[in-house]
Amino acid sequence: MIFRQMFDSVSGTYTYLLASRRGGEALIIDPVIEKVDRYLQLVRELDLKLVKAVDTHLHADHITGLGALRDRTHCITVMGEQTKADVVSMRVAEGERVGIEGVALEVLYTPGHTDDSYSYLMGDRVFTGDTLLIRGTGRTDFQNGDPRQQYDSIFNKLLRLPESTLVYPAHDYKGETVSTIGEEKAFNPRLQVKSIDEYVALMNNLNLPNPKMMDVAVPANMRVGLAQDEIARRGWAVGAHEAMGLLGRPEIAFVDLRESTEREKRGVIPGSIHAPYPALADNLGPGGSLRALADHKRLLFYCAFGERSAMAVQAAQDARLVTARHLQGGIDAWQKAGGPLSK
Ligand SMILES: [Fe+2]
Repeated sequence: MIFRQMFDSVSGTYTYLLASRRGGEALIIDPVIEKVDRYLQLVRELDLKLVKAVDTHLHADHITGLGALRDRTHCITVMGEQTKADVVSMRVAEGERVGIEGVALEVLYTPGHTDDSYSYLMGDRVFTGDTLLIRGTGRTDFQNGDPRQQYDSIFNKLLRLPESTLVYPAHDYKGETVSTIGEEKAFNPRLQVKSIDEYVALMNNLNLPNPKMMDVAVPANMRVGLAQDEIARRGWAVGAHEAMGLLGRPEIAFVDLRESTEREKRGVIPGSIHAPYPALADNLGPGGSLRALADHKRLLFYCAFGERSAMAVQAAQDARLVTARHLQGGIDAWQKAGGPLSK
């Protein structure tokens, strides 16, 4: 198991790099844009392939590295389904899993610091974002924060994990690196309250100044910019209504890039082929299944929101599959346009 905790001293952010082995797939949690070169250097040094980048919530104190990592590694970006960020290619909800080779994160919805705050449980450790900090909790006074929800997230979800569970937060300002659920239960001053009302009163009286970066970071993190605009300019995008007109045509192959869990949750475009995004390079390479298919059909990639499919159409064009297109806006746009779905 490869597990690295990295620190951005400007924002006090912890970033985590996870992989099951050298040479395998890797996942990163809460990357900071200024540190992207360092993460990618470490990924190379450990011979890893970065396939997923996760933000625990929309950050107000630093600009996320999600967009830059996506541009440079074509990784899948992941956030909770409540997020207002545009960049995200996979949105998860309570009870789902975020997986890479040999690693599975269990998704816990833990709102309160923001309404899109999630924690991720991996066996003996939990990544708590800004929901539960070491001897502290994330502020609840902006970005749809809510101390009542936070109390519920902490007391009824996180503190119910085994006491030995390691707590890895998104921030620390005093140099602490790790704690446990049992320690926080016993010694976190914010959690020594007798009722939810006492916790709400405590949180509502913190009177904290806004983070220095807030006016810059929040808008930037909501609009990290999609690869989709550029793909559309090149004429490689197909709108949902146009795509509906192509359904059932023998010369068109709809190719679903999503993961099995996403397909089960949302349904699939009838008759489409399943070719998960992480295997794209192999599928488009010599002897790959999509390359063979493209000999007699036009590939029409789709995913959840059009992000992975935009990257896929670029990869296909680079591999000289010039008729490849993608469904702009993904299954989300398809569904909104009234496109049929099957299970
Ligand atoms: Fe935060």
